[in-house]
Amino acid sequence: MADKKLTTEEILALARKQKAGGGAETPPAEAPSSEAAPESPAPAPAPKPAGNAPKSTADILAAARAQATAKSAPAEESKASPVAPKSTADILAAARSQGATKPAGGAAPKSTADILAAARAAGGAAASLKPKAAAESAPAAKAPAAAPAGLGVKDMVAAVKQAQQGGAPPKLPAKPVAPKLPAKQAVPRRGILATLAAITISPFTLGWTSLGGVLGLWGLAMARFLMPNMVRELPSKFTVGSPSDYPPGTVSEKYTASRGIWIVNTDQYNGKPLLYALASVCTHLGCTPSWLAGEQKFKCPCHGSGFYITGINFEGPAPRPLERVGLSVAPSGLLEVDKSVKFQEELGQWSDGKSFVEVG
Ligand code: FES
Repeated sequence: MADKKLTTEEILALARKQKAGGGAETPPAEAPSSEAAPESPAPAPAPKPAGNAPKSTADILAAARAQATAKSAPAEESKASPVAPKSTADILAAARSQGATKPAGGAAPKSTADILAAARAAGGAAASLKPKAAAESAPAAKAPAAAPAGLGVKDMVAAVKQAQQGGAPPKLPAKPVAPKLPAKQAVPRRGILATLAAITISPFTLGWTSLGGVLGLWGLAMARFLMPNMVRELPSKFTVGSPSDYPPGTVSEKYTASRGIWIVNTDQYNGKPLLYALASVCTHLGCTPSWLAGEQKFKCPCHGSGFYITGINFEGPAPRPLERVGLSVAPSGLLEVDKSVKFQEELGQWSDGKSFVEVG
């Protein structure tokens, strides 16, 4: 009997009965503890000072357990050790019963919500609720009234919270000022050679540059190959100076190398002093004979043909005399040679007036 666990209804009934003054009421038929109801209520071992609310939830629960144990125990079995309620329902019932013993000045809570509210209100100042309040008020207390410059993030957050709670606006750290850079100094210009020397030529660049150079040279060679080979010839007519520049009995080699002619001043051909121009081409195979002033003849170095000062061949394989070219006096008084025309002696052309100039 004493070990039987009380139900929630039983505990609530006991609590209500105690609240009503502990009168002898008819216990529920099914409640075995109704036999103890007429007895005087058992003393509550829990600390429950009159007129004071429980300090904490733990105190409330402890008091409820103790009171419920005392109520559920029968009189004859009071010597046995009381059995504390185990379930939450028991605890709530005990709390309700304890709430029924509150001072007469306050209204006793009826429902579970009221009981818990009263317990929280009574224990609001208890130590169990202190950590939360302390946690909420700690930053504000920790934060200084004014956040100096250079504070950390936590300090700044605390300062902002303090401001939100009605405190002075936090002082944010001063905006950093960019340092002044030194004045820009004039950079000396580097020379082109120094710049080129500073450039690092990679093997890749060197290879492509060499290939480009080779291709450029190959293009130039191809262009030259496609161009026709032209021989620049001098004009066939040109002046060779005045007649006085050629004294009688002389052969001038002044234009032999450049123009291929000799200017001869002699009277040995027909007894008249004449100026004429002989082509310096051997009539054998086309070699260039040489004038031999000591021997007064033209001598071909190729096969030994010899020609007089008049141009008549006299030795060697040359088959005919040297040829004359046109010679005349220009309006300017200068001798003018015309190589476009030839005069051959064997053909009787040396008698043409365009093949000589009379002097003296
Ligand atoms: Fe002048 Fe043969 S070419 S002698």
